[in-house]
Amino acid sequence: MIFLQHHLFLGVVFFILLCSRTTAIRVIGRSTTVTVGQDATLFCQLVETSEKLTRITWQKRTRQILRNKNFFFITPEGKTESVNGLGDRTKFIGDIQELTGTILLKNTALLDEGVYTCIFNIFPSGPFETEIKLNIQVPPVVGVTTEVIPVVGESEVILATCTATKSRPAADVSWRLGDLSDSVKVQTNVSADPDGSFTVKSFLIGAASKDLNQQKVQCSVNHTSLNKELILDYALIIHYPPQVVSIISVNVPTASQEFQCVVDANPQPTFTWSRVNKTLSSPVNADRLIIPLTSDNNGLYLCNVSNQYGNGIGTLYVNVSTESTAVCWVLFTFLLLGFIASCLIGWKFNVFERLRTFLSELRNRIGRPGHDPVSTGGSMSPSSSRSQNRRESSESQ
Ligand SMILES: *[C@@H]1O[C@H](CO)[C@@H](O)[C@H](O)[C@H]1NC(C)=O
Ligand SMILES: *[C@@H]1O[C@H](CO)[C@@H](O)[C@H](O)[C@H]1NC(C)=O
Repeated sequence: MIFLQHHLFLGVVFFILLCSRTTAIRVIGRSTTVTVGQDATLFCQLVETSEKLTRITWQKRTRQILRNKNFFFITPEGKTESVNGLGDRTKFIGDIQELTGTILLKNTALLDEGVYTCIFNIFPSGPFETEIKLNIQVPPVVGVTTEVIPVVGESEVILATCTATKSRPAADVSWRLGDLSDSVKVQTNVSADPDGSFTVKSFLIGAASKDLNQQKVQCSVNHTSLNKELILDYALIIHYPPQVVSIISVNVPTASQEFQCVVDANPQPTFTWSRVNKTLSSPVNADRLIIPLTSDNNGLYLCNVSNQYGNGIGTLYVNVSTESTAVCWVLFTFLLLGFIASCLIGWKFNVFERLRTFLSELRNRIGRPGHDPVSTGGSMSPSSSRSQNRRESSESQ
């Protein structure tokens, strides 16, 4: 029975203590988080007392200052004193009457992060204090790079690196790979700086294949200091030697023909044109070569394409037929045009007769390349000279 009474008594005492504690003199404070460079408000207030305030003291401990150290005093008259280095950065913004000892810490730095203690000295009860946590966040500096440009090959290499530099807390870095997610893998490393910031590097690793060159990927960075996710677009870079070289014609041949050496290579290769067993005299402009269409330019031409990883050769065989044949073809074309024109204009004439005339005219001209058929007079029939006139008039239209 006595035993039970004893327990009851203890219980009541404990309860009274608990109740009195919640209504007792105490300091309330508010922890806060700010982005580096901003001003931080450190709020504290003494409640449930009417005793005489003698002094408010602020202390702090940080990553550098491991033990609590005074840095600011406030007298009951509102006078302030800064010690141990914070100087003008600390400002009293509380109210003595309200018993608030709130301070403003201006232009925060990463090393301001820590635990701040607000101590109210009152007479006669003595000091009352509370601890406030100040968190400093630092937004990351982000970027995607390729530190060493991968060269096409079988072994796994770092294809790209997404970096979120010097943030606090550490940033969350990930990749959006789309179709590439099966062919590449991701490795993320976090390193801590002595100043309290973190650098996160996320590596994209895979075999450097030519197909990956210019493939688009995205790096995503999330951080508490950012109001939304950062998305960084990146196109992968893979280096490879020149692949198949081909030479194509890029104009309709007139007196000369322009050729282009076409190849897939990264980085952009250099082009060296040459002519087998002869010196090259034709005009060259990087991947272009202009060859005058004369028979003395007949022969084999080479386009040697090279970058630092290798080279490739393209060949071109030029065989220009003789000049007189070329003239023949030009004349034939004109005559054909003349024939069509005369057919259209002079339809009342017999088509077969025209055809026969045309053919005899054609024979004349091919038989005497380079000669003006009109000047040879006698061999021309009246109808053929009419056809000739028609041709000229159709040309001048
Ligand atoms: C990531 O960190 C691990 C362990 O420190 C290290 O072995 C690895 O080489 C790092 N990865 C890269 C790609 O640097
Ligand atoms: C092509 O160029 C490369 C690099 O300049 C050189 O090493 C190679 O011998 C050249 N090949 C020919 C056939 O000219």
